[in-house]
Amino acid sequence: MDAVTEAKRNAGYRAADLVKDGMIVGLGTGSTVFFAMERLGERIASEGIRIFGVPTSNQTAMRAEEYGIPLTTLSLHPVLDIAIDGADQVTPSKQMIKGRGAAHLREKIVADAAKQFVVVIDSAKEVSVLDAAVPIEILPFAYGSVCRKLASLGGEPVMRNGVKKDGPVISDNGNYIFDCAFGKVDDPSGLESAINAIPGVLENGIFAKMTEKTLIIVGKSA
Ligand code: A5P
Repeated sequence: MDAVTEAKRNAGYRAADLVKDGMIVGLGTGSTVFFAMERLGERIASEGIRIFGVPTSNQTAMRAEEYGIPLTTLSLHPVLDIAIDGADQVTPSKQMIKGRGAAHLREKIVADAAKQFVVVIDSAKEVSVLDAAVPIEILPFAYGSVCRKLASLGGEPVMRNGVKKDGPVISDNGNYIFDCAFGKVDDPSGLESAINAIPGVLENGIFAKMTEKTLIIVGKSA
């Protein structure tokens, strides 16, 4: 296992060890949180903890089945004890960009519903200022008008295309994903609100409004 993978596993396992018997757990999407789920599966098997997960993507739901983590829904459990997720960039003030896996719409809903949001990363994700392109989930009907408005905000939206499929990436919710470069983001919270105020935007990948309940775990390699 390389050093980055080892750091991701370390972060994921430490987050999973924060989960207590009886908790309802938001399950993010991505390679780091899948390590947390692997560890949760081990704890269910070895310690007999009883937990239920709320998955943020179809991929996460499939992983949960594989690891033996029982699932529930936000309708049955609108308040979650904890949510664990990865991120693509994180600042010292715990603002972040997420959505490389195109799951940020459900990820933000699940994080918002959780009492505590635990973010698991390797040190390569730490930045002083957010500057990655911002993933934006857009209703297909509206993408033309949304892109015009994003450009007027100073962004450069580019439709995300499939790697192993022709044409656009379609999210689990049936929408398009655009990646929109804004350069250095000086006001993450303001940009998060401005993007989401455009009719047809379902959600963007800036997470800047839940820093108080956020715990960042940076994984270490041996
Ligand atoms: C999924 O849409 C993303 O928000 C992921 O949480 C993020 O891309 C982190 O993924 P890794 O843990 O695979 O780096």
